[in-house]
Amino acid sequence: MVPLGSLHGACCSLLISLLLVCLLPPGKGQEFLLRVEPQDPVVPARGSLLVNCSTDCPHPELITLETSLLKETVSNGVGWVAFQLSNVTSDSKVLCSSFCNGFQMTGSSDITVYRFPEHVELAPLSPWQPVGKNLTLRCWVAGGAPRTHLSVLLLRGEEELSRQQAVREPAEVTTTVLAGRDDHGANFSCRSELDLRSQGLGLFQNSSAPRQLQTFVLPVTFPHLTVPRFLEVGTSGPLVCTLDKLFPASEAQVQLALGNQMLNTSVSSQGDMLTATATATASAEQEGTREIVCNVTLGGESRETRKNLTIYSFREPTMNLSESTVPEGTTVNVTCAAGARVQLTLDGVPAVAPGQLAQLQINATERDDRRSFFCSATLEVDGLILRRNRSVQLRVLYGPKIDPTKCPQHLTWKDGTTHILQCQARGNPDPQIQCLQESSGFQPPVGIPFRVSLNYSGTYCCRAANSQGTHTLTVVMNVQNRNPLVVTIVMAVLVILGLVTVTAASLYIFGVQKRNDIYHVNQGSTWLPLTSKQPNEVLREEPS
Ligand SMILES: *[C@@H]1O[C@H](CO)[C@@H](O)[C@H](O)[C@H]1NC(C)=O
Ligand SMILES: *[C@@H]1O[C@H](CO)[C@@H](O)[C@H](O)[C@H]1NC(C)=O
Ligand SMILES: *[C@@H]1O[C@H](CO)[C@@H](O)[C@H](O)[C@H]1NC(C)=O
Ligand SMILES: *[C@@H]1O[C@H](CO)[C@@H](O)[C@H](O)[C@H]1NC(C)=O
Ligand SMILES: *[C@@H]1O[C@H](CO)[C@@H](O)[C@H](O)[C@H]1NC(C)=O
Ligand SMILES: *[C@@H]1O[C@H](CO)[C@@H](O)[C@H](O)[C@H]1NC(C)=O
Ligand SMILES: *[C@@H]1O[C@H](CO)[C@@H](O)[C@H](O)[C@H]1NC(C)=O
Ligand SMILES: *[C@@H]1O[C@H](CO)[C@@H](O)[C@H](O)[C@H]1NC(C)=O
Ligand SMILES: *[C@@H]1O[C@H](CO)[C@@H](O)[C@H](O)[C@H]1NC(C)=O
Ligand SMILES: *[C@@H]1O[C@H](CO)[C@@H](O)[C@H](O)[C@H]1NC(C)=O
Ligand SMILES: *[C@@H]1O[C@H](CO)[C@@H](O)[C@H](O)[C@H]1NC(C)=O
Ligand SMILES: *[C@@H]1O[C@H](CO)[C@@H](O)[C@H](O)[C@H]1NC(C)=O
Repeated sequence: MVPLGSLHGACCSLLISLLLVCLLPPGKGQEFLLRVEPQDPVVPARGSLLVNCSTDCPHPELITLETSLLKETVSNGVGWVAFQLSNVTSDSKVLCSSFCNGFQMTGSSDITVYRFPEHVELAPLSPWQPVGKNLTLRCWVAGGAPRTHLSVLLLRGEEELSRQQAVREPAEVTTTVLAGRDDHGANFSCRSELDLRSQGLGLFQNSSAPRQLQTFVLPVTFPHLTVPRFLEVGTSGPLVCTLDKLFPASEAQVQLALGNQMLNTSVSSQGDMLTATATATASAEQEGTREIVCNVTLGGESRETRKNLTIYSFREPTMNLSESTVPEGTTVNVTCAAGARVQLTLDGVPAVAPGQLAQLQINATERDDRRSFFCSATLEVDGLILRRNRSVQLRVLYGPKIDPTKCPQHLTWKDGTTHILQCQARGNPDPQIQCLQESSGFQPPVGIPFRVSLNYSGTYCCRAANSQGTHTLTVVMNVQNRNPLVVTIVMAVLVILGLVTVTAASLYIFGVQKRNDIYHVNQGSTWLPLTSKQPNEVLREEPS
């Protein structure tokens, strides 16, 4: 009822004024105007405003200001009154009125309030935006007046994407952007612009906090994972996982895991290619088939590749001899052992079943000395055949044997020459060999060159000995006197000369007897004429 009453009162006063204007006869007062200054001002919200109602009427009466705003008369003068309006919160019309010579004068001014938006906010962006998909930017502007002068801009950096007038409260403005690679890292923001330049004021901007966009490309293909098929316990193998056409490759996360064990992964990127490497080390507890997982995550999505790796353990077989060095005739057990599932073959004889020992029993003979027993182990892992070998050598102790072919039993040597007495014997340990001349006890060196003399002739007893026994062999050495060629030749010449002389002498004597028919045998001087004549014959021949 109260507002109705006051409204009624206001209507009555306005009616009275109108009546007065109509009823009062026109006169001098009509020429004068009532000015309201400033005209149609734009003021900041809650600001104050000095309104000057002035007229040229020489004697104006009752200059008043009609307003719903708080007002205060601050000063007046001849033909003017100044009012201070304060806490101007909304647009309003002020009306000045006065009387001049009984005529009412009125003037009005429209006050426009301007205020900056209280809130400008850009809606949060999705943390990662796929390249090639539309992105909606949404901005809210709360408050701000006058709306006719308020526009909302959506910006990428400083680039204007959209400009719209603010309507409704709060004003909501949207625009769509096709996300590209260039948008990765771009800052988007929203800005309100209150353009009061036409009112003689400025351009007032309020901006939202920027939001940075992350765009990405994650191909639908799976990462390419390279892993070894097999890995032996205690060894390491390289794992390489690559994925191409990835953007931004440097921001992708890669996880390489062996089973449920995360591996220390080093990641590098070149262009759109991502490469992750790790080293898988196989431990005994991981034996069996294990999965290697490569998981590439980008923009909240991930791509995964799995591959199987077989971890196996295959130690060399162990070989044992019941005794490594045995005397001849001893029974020796040869054993070869390996892990489960390993098939063993000892000296060509396979064990009864995989995982079983391979065993061999021998009666050690001389021929088994230095014999190598060979054990081969075979393991099949997921279709892969693995082999390992081991061998062990047996030593058999046996008595010495002098090999007659390596120890000539009849030696014929010349006196004064150098020879080697060859005599070799087998045996383990290596036998010592000595030859002894039975008659004199003389021991020629065996296997070392020595000078032979006549008195070395004789029968020798060669004896080979080691810890396992002895063996003897008789060797006859015949050293002959030296008979040089010169002596033989001289002797031969002498014999021939003798024969020639005898023949010549016989012929001479026989011939003389034939001529004389007398044959005197001069027993004493058979040789003399020959010997005495010879020098004479030589002398006679000389002058010729
Ligand atoms: C009001 O207007 C009159 C006439 O223009 C002027 O003389 C006077 O100084 C003004 N008063 C104020 C307070 O500005
Ligand atoms: C100004 O006006 C508003 C409402 O119109 C009121 O809430 C506020 O208290 C006023 N301020 C002053 C200083 O009078
Ligand atoms: C993105 O939006 C524009 C218009 O807003 C539309 O023409 C275009 O087809 C959209 N593109 C995609 C990939 O949605
Ligand atoms: C976006 O803003 C951040 C910090 O506010 C700045 O580090 C980055 O350089 C800006 N990006 C661009 C493309 O200007
Ligand atoms: C809006 O901008 C004006 C100047 O342009 C500034 O005085 C005011 O504080 C800003 N408002 C907000 C909420 O930031
Ligand atoms: C991972 O590897 C780096 C070097 O390649 C090394 O310094 C670091 O100690 C490793 N971390 C682990 C937990 O093995
Ligand atoms: C890949 O790794 C991410 C981050 O660790 C994880 O959230 C996601 O579940 C993994 N993906 C798969 C298929 O395991
Ligand atoms: C890995 O091996 C398991 C059985 O051991 C099998 O089910 C799985 O399909 C294999 N995975 C791959 C990638 O070959
Ligand atoms: C081993 O063989 C030797 C000769 O062949 C024989 O005398 C000996 O009795 C055998 N020993 C065993 C334990 O069979
Ligand atoms: C060799 O093995 C057999 C059984 O295989 C065993 O009776 C014998 O005692 C073993 N001999 C030695 C010397 O270990
Ligand atoms: C071989 O001998 C070693 C030590 O002498 C022993 O530990 C191993 O068990 C033996 N192996 C076999 C197959 O007898
Ligand atoms: C095992 O021995 C065979 C010959 O018997 C040979 O070909 C192979 O290379 C050997 N393997 C290893 C691992 O020594």
